[in-house]
Amino acid sequence: MADARTRNRYFDDLFSTPDLAWMGQNTNHVPAHPAVAEAMIRSVEAGEFNAYAPPMGFEALRSAIVADLGAGSAEALVTEGGVNALAMICKARAKPGTTLVTTDPTWKWPCLFAEQAGAEVVQIPIYDPATSFKLTPEALRAAVDERCAIIYIVDPNNPLGIRYEREEITAFAEIARSVGALMIHDCTYRDFADGHTPVLQVAPEGTVVSLSFSKWLGLAGMRIGTLVAEPKLVDEFSAASTSVLGASVVAQRAAMAGLSVKPEWMQEVRRLDRANKAMIVTAAETAGLSVPVPVSHGNFLVLETAGTGVSPEAIVEAARREGVMIRQGRYHTAAFGDRFIKVSTSVPGAWAERFCEGLPRYIETARTLNDIPALF
Ligand SMILES: Cc1ncc(COP(=O)(O)O)c(C=O)c1O
Repeated sequence: MADARTRNRYFDDLFSTPDLAWMGQNTNHVPAHPAVAEAMIRSVEAGEFNAYAPPMGFEALRSAIVADLGAGSAEALVTEGGVNALAMICKARAKPGTTLVTTDPTWKWPCLFAEQAGAEVVQIPIYDPATSFKLTPEALRAAVDERCAIIYIVDPNNPLGIRYEREEITAFAEIARSVGALMIHDCTYRDFADGHTPVLQVAPEGTVVSLSFSKWLGLAGMRIGTLVAEPKLVDEFSAASTSVLGASVVAQRAAMAGLSVKPEWMQEVRRLDRANKAMIVTAAETAGLSVPVPVSHGNFLVLETAGTGVSPEAIVEAARREGVMIRQGRYHTAAFGDRFIKVSTSVPGAWAERFCEGLPRYIETARTLNDIPALF
């Protein structure tokens, strides 16, 4: 519990830091679209929060999610954040004697959920320019056997920002099918990608897509996400749910409004995101960092720190002291985490400018830091 409390205080302190620039969790801080803000206000004013939502989500939202994904005959189950969609799926499938196979780096929480259920986690290293920082079908095939219950692919990958081609997704799904495993395609960042193929478009059976409204729509604090799969799998996963009373009503109203203005909203978000990325790449290279994946399909960038002579943690702590939250690589990966920091880019331009202006100073401060407190 000591760790849990320290972690809680860490985030509580961040929340109470005046004018904090949130650039560590890939959240979206572009001021909300008026239609989304209005939908939430209208819902609150009508007292809709007094009632429970339908347990699988409002029907209109479930249909809109499937249509937006282009997932044909699949069905959506609305959850309290993408994280709970993933927890539910892991609870349904991970068992002692099974494996969850994923990449390194990956998004770490589903690994924890699988381990909690008694499964073993197998991570395939992908931090390698020789494979363009991607998982290859060959590497995946070599890592799976009949024990494999789940293949978990984050695409675009957080933190690397790579994305997979249609052929690669098709190959991963075929490998999953060959060993009787479920393929989870975590498409949380798909709306920041140039071109993206959800697995349901190429292999609609035995696969599931998880999605979030935290990143593209900026609803992280509202806690709303979804899983999309064939009805048979949705039934199976629902049976493992602990969220039997549904997700937030207000969040669902916001999500529906967001989907209705999505093209216009994302055009503006991506314009800002692209401009911030360009500015940050230049500032990072000038300050002696390097950018292994310069074209990131997520709303974030990995910046390698070797050229600075200081650790990622020291830079993160120095930035935190100036009210800028960025992330140390070790949050994502023990094997490669000493190489990089990660910076989120779906933020107001003024925040990105603040980070760029401060970066040389963070590095200088980092040289003087001896005791770095725990970072999360
Ligand atoms: C890859 C990935 N999946 C899922 C999530 C969960 O998102 P949420 O629970 O906020 O919808 C995140 C959040 O950082 C993520 O990076």
